[in-house]
Amino acid sequence: MRTQVGIVGAGPAGLMLSHLLHLRGVDSVVIDLQTRETIEQTIKAGILEQGTVDLMRQTGVGDRLTRDGFVHHGINLAFGGGMHRINLYELTGGRAVTVYAQHEVLKDLIAKRLADGADIRFGVTDTQVAGLQSEQPTITFQHEGQQHSLECDFIIGADGSRTYTRFQIPQPEVRTDFFRQYPFAWFGILAEAPPSSDELIYAHSGRGFVLISTRSPKVQRLYFQCDPETSVDDWSDDRIWEEFDARLAPSGVSLKTGTIFKKDVLQFRSFVCEPMQHGRLFLAGDAAHTVPPTGAKGLNLAMADVHVLDRALGSYYDVKDSGLLESYTPTVLRRIWRAQHFSWWMTSMLHRFSDATDFDLRRQIAELDMVVNSPSASKLLAENYVGLPLL
Ligand code: DHB
Repeated sequence: MRTQVGIVGAGPAGLMLSHLLHLRGVDSVVIDLQTRETIEQTIKAGILEQGTVDLMRQTGVGDRLTRDGFVHHGINLAFGGGMHRINLYELTGGRAVTVYAQHEVLKDLIAKRLADGADIRFGVTDTQVAGLQSEQPTITFQHEGQQHSLECDFIIGADGSRTYTRFQIPQPEVRTDFFRQYPFAWFGILAEAPPSSDELIYAHSGRGFVLISTRSPKVQRLYFQCDPETSVDDWSDDRIWEEFDARLAPSGVSLKTGTIFKKDVLQFRSFVCEPMQHGRLFLAGDAAHTVPPTGAKGLNLAMADVHVLDRALGSYYDVKDSGLLESYTPTVLRRIWRAQHFSWWMTSMLHRFSDATDFDLRRQIAELDMVVNSPSASKLLAENYVGLPLL
C-alpha cells in the first residue's frame, strides 16, 4: 500500500487532518487501534472554541454542529457566596463557545471522510513505524488478520495521550518532556435532568471545585474535584448529589438532580513534548501535549495543530517548499504553551489543593473577585476561553 500521508490515530487531530488534506487533493490513510463504535461512543469534553466551530463549518462538517450544538455567550464563576457572569460575547467582540460533544465531532468527521471515499482502518494491531529519517517512511500494522505495510511521504502521530508514535522520537537525544501532575482528579457524571443553569458554572468552594456543564436540554454533564484514587463504585447517586449540593449551596446555586447514567474519573496532567517532529514524523494533538480539563482546551488544541500541519503539507506538495514543515514545532508550540498556562491558571484558581490553608482559599477568592470585577482581567479570561484565533 502507498499513500502520501499516513496518519496514526482516528481522533480529532487525525480525522480533521485527513479531511483538510483531502480538500486540497492530498491523499491519506488513517489507522486506529479502536473500533469505530468505541471511537464514536467514548465520552470526552464538549466545548468547541470559535476557531474550531469556524473551521468545521468552513470545511463542510458543521451542519449537525450548527443544528444540534448550543452556542454559549457567557460562563459563570461561583465563589465567595455568589455567582458572577463573564460575558464572553461582549468581551471578545462577538466570539462565543459551542457546547457539542467531542464524540459527535468524531461521528461527523468519520461520516464525511467515508462519504468522500477515505481509507480508514479501525481496530488495527501491532502498529510500527520505520524509516522516519528517509524519504519513504512506512507504517506496518495488522488489520482483519492480515499484515499490511503502508509506504508514505509523511507519518502523522495523532494517537492520543497513550501514544506509540511520540516514543519514536529519541529521548533524551532529541525529545524533551515537560510534565506536571496535579494532586486531584475530576469525578464526572452524565445525568438525565433539566439544566440547572443556562450557561456553564465553574464553582470554587472550600470542599473543592465543581463544574456544571450540559449536553442537551435533557442531559447534563457535571464534575466535582476528587482524589485521584477515587473509585466510582464508592459513590452512590445520593452521595454524589449531596456532594454537589454541599459545594454549590454556599454560592446560592440550586441543582436540578436526576438519574445518573454514567460515572467516570478523569486524571489531571499537564504535558508537552518538544520537538513535535522528527524526520518525516509529525505529532499532533494529545500525542504531543495534554492539558488538564479545566477550560476544555484539548480538542481545540488538536484542531489548531492540524490546521497548521495541513497548510505546511499543502505548501510542500503544491510548491515543493518544506519551510512551513520545518517550522511546525515552534509555530504550534506558542499556542500550546499559552493553552497550558490558561488551563493551569483556571485549575489553580478554582481547585482546592491538598495542602491549601484558609489563606490560600481567601487568596483564590481575591483572584476570582479581580477576574469578575476588573474589565481587563475579565477580558483576559474571555479571550483565552473562546480561544485565540487560528493562525
Ligand atoms: C466540559 C469540560 C470541561 O473541561 C470544561 O472546562 C467545560 C465543559 C464538558 O465536558 O462539558
